Amino acid sequence: MQIPNWPVYDHREVELLQEVLASGRWGGHSDFVKRLEAQFAAFTGCAHAVSAMNGTVTLEMALAAAGIGPGDEVIVPAISFVATAMAVSRVGATPVFVDIEPLSFNMDPQRVAAAITPRTKAIIAVHFGAAIADMDRLIPLAAEHGLALIEDAAHAQGSEWRGRRAGSLGLAGSFSFQNSKVMTAGEGGMLTTNDAAFAERAWSIMDQGRQPGGGWFHHYVAGSNYRITGWQAAVLLAQLERLPEQICRRTRNAAMLRAELADVPGLAFQAVPKQQNSNSWYLFLGRVDSPRAGCTRDEFHRALAAQGVPCTPFYPHTLYGNPLYRNGGCRVEPCPVAEACIVDAFWLPHRALLGDESTTREIAAAMRAAFTR
Ligand SMILES: Cc1ncc(COP(=O)(O)O)c(C=O)c1O
Repeated sequence: MQIPNWPVYDHREVELLQEVLASGRWGGHSDFVKRLEAQFAAFTGCAHAVSAMNGTVTLEMALAAAGIGPGDEVIVPAISFVATAMAVSRVGATPVFVDIEPLSFNMDPQRVAAAITPRTKAIIAVHFGAAIADMDRLIPLAAEHGLALIEDAAHAQGSEWRGRRAGSLGLAGSFSFQNSKVMTAGEGGMLTTNDAAFAERAWSIMDQGRQPGGGWFHHYVAGSNYRITGWQAAVLLAQLERLPEQICRRTRNAAMLRAELADVPGLAFQAVPKQQNSNSWYLFLGRVDSPRAGCTRDEFHRALAAQGVPCTPFYPHTLYGNPLYRNGGCRVEPCPVAEACIVDAFWLPHRALLGDESTTREIAAAMRAAFTR
């Protein structure tokens, strides 16, 4: 099976990297970093974008710039990569884990509402796999309780909700450009916002507590050095140029896979809400209802792997199941859906959606065969 490798690059990355080389400014104050920030801000429809080393520190910067710290609670979904919760712990606040919805894999706004206390200061909504969390309900909920709504859009470069891009829907959007993401420089991150004062605070945290336009040796807050290099910015500029075409390809192939497998009993795919008009398809997610499917998720996963289809049998535990949180440092609300997904959910990486039509049909056939063995 000719499933494309990831990451991909062509002459464009090489050209831009050579320009950085010749520029003599290779570090975080390279013009390429400014160019990337301006282009990514425009791409997300935001007034400001602040780049940083990765999508974990951009979450930490967002929380710190929102004034969140010890004594505060931040509501996060029980299912995500650990960084979503770890960033909360790193700023000294307490993550509060809530359940996800059965098919969107995103935080359940009703469970979020039930978890709010006087200590709650923020909600981090993850757009899991690139499907946007229910912002129609989360935006008014956050506003009603005066909470900062931060989008963890690590997976969702280019996804749209009612025509607005991920990262422009809350106070801030946090993106990752780590190796597996839909645009990558190996590592990298970006924070987007429409709030100028928030952007300035985040920038200052990222760049040693300096002020934009201020002196090199003048430091105003306890920041750090989270800058990306010109090399990363050059690669990401090229990756951003290629992203819209890749989203079209993944969207076409995801639709084909879902149509080809629509009649398989016991196989359910991630629900994409009707308000979502674009999906960058970072993950192709599903759940296996084993009594109806006649096989377990693990049997399905093994059969797919044997046929050469890349597949991950979901996370091995919820976020609060990590040793880090098993002994406290968090609050855990009941999460029956998250617990069930650990046993029955799976995902295919986005490179499985980047092939041609015949590869997509081969993947569909392999998935069907894995169910009917
Ligand atoms: C949902 C989510 N948030 C945050 C991150 C952290 O990003 P990074 O690896 O760039 O630190 C990731 C990375 O996989 C992620 O999947």
